[in-house]
This record gives sequence, C-alpha cells and structure tokens, in this order.
Amino acid sequence: MSGMRDEVEQTLLTQEQIQKRVTELGRILSEEYAGKNPVLVSVLKGAFIFLADLCRSADIPCSVDFMIVSSYGAGTETSGKVKIIKDLDTVIQGRHVIVIEDIVDSGVTLSHILAMLKARNPASLRLMTLLDKPARRRAHVDVDWTGFQVPDAFLVGYGLDYAEKYRNLPDICILKPEVYQA
Ligand code: PRP
Repeated sequence: MSGMRDEVEQTLLTQEQIQKRVTELGRILSEEYAGKNPVLVSVLKGAFIFLADLCRSADIPCSVDFMIVSSYGAGTETSGKVKIIKDLDTVIQGRHVIVIEDIVDSGVTLSHILAMLKARNPASLRLMTLLDKPARRRAHVDVDWTGFQVPDAFLVGYGLDYAEKYRNLPDICILKPEVYQA
C-alpha cells in the first residue's frame, strides 16, 4: 500500500523545526499584543494547523475568526481571481487584527484580503505567514512576520494541500513533480 510519504520528494521543514519557529512566533504575538485582545484572522483552509499551534503558543487573550477564500481550485497555479466563500463573523472596526496565513506565494490572495479588511477600519492590521515564497510574488504584500522563506517548489503538509490531499502531513515537504504533472 502506498502512503503519502511515497509521493514526497524531500522534507523541507521537519515538525521539530516548525514547532520551534511557531513557538517563537507565538512569543512575538504575546509581547506585541499584551493587553490588546487581538483577533487572529485565519484564511482557510491551509492555515488551520498553523493557527491551532500558534494560538496555543501565544500566552494572551485573543479571539479567532475564519475566512474562506479560494483562488487556486485544484491546480497548482493561481488563477488571479479571489473569491470570498465565507466572510468574518467578527466586527473588526477598532480591533487589533492579525491575518494568519500558511503561505504567501503570488500575493494575490493576501493583497485582496488586506485591502478588504483595511477598509473596515481596524485599530491595526498586520500579517503573519508561516511560509513566504518571494520568488513568485506578483502583487505587493507587506508581510510583518514570516516563519520561513521557502524556495519555489510545490509544497505540501502542515495544512498545505495538493488537490485537498497531504494537509495532514506533519512536516512540510516538496511533492514529486510526477504527482501533479500526471
Ligand atoms: C493558498 C494559501 C493562501 C494562498 C496564497 O490557499 O493558503 O491563501 O494560496 O497564494 P497567493 O499568494 O498566490 O495568493 P489556496 O487557495 O491553495 O487554498 P487552501 O488554503 O484552502 O489550500
């Protein structure tokens, strides 16, 4: 029987490396947002695992809310179209908002989301991403905190998918090209 690991070319970041960095990022949030009761806005689905670990590393009161945005479909390239599938439940006017992402790639998704949230007049609006792939940037995005800069390879695991698969891999891995070129 073939497992997910057989479809992986290389492990880029192990779960130990990820946890160490997520703990540091949680500490940064604890220091920056003490007494501010921020809202962590997570963009599903990819960020769900990062958010779950990050918010438990942040030793401050905060709330979480979710948006679902889709731009990729089942392919590996962004279509350049950002569709809001689920908006926030929270009124963010006057609140300190941190957008939590798994990866900034072309920047198209995040530039749209940040512009939309800014128009709602939050007290502050910042972006924390676990992964940043600057080689692929097409739209400008101000990233406030990055976990890791990553190369231009097709990544899966720790929330990142290919065609909805591999999100449950605990490491971040490079997928074998034959898997998505098949
Ligand atoms: C991924 C990721 C970001 C976006 C980044 O989501 O979670 O939201 O792509 O890409 P960009 O910088 O090129 O806009 P995806 O659309 O794959 O959906 P998912 O989170 O449900 O996997």
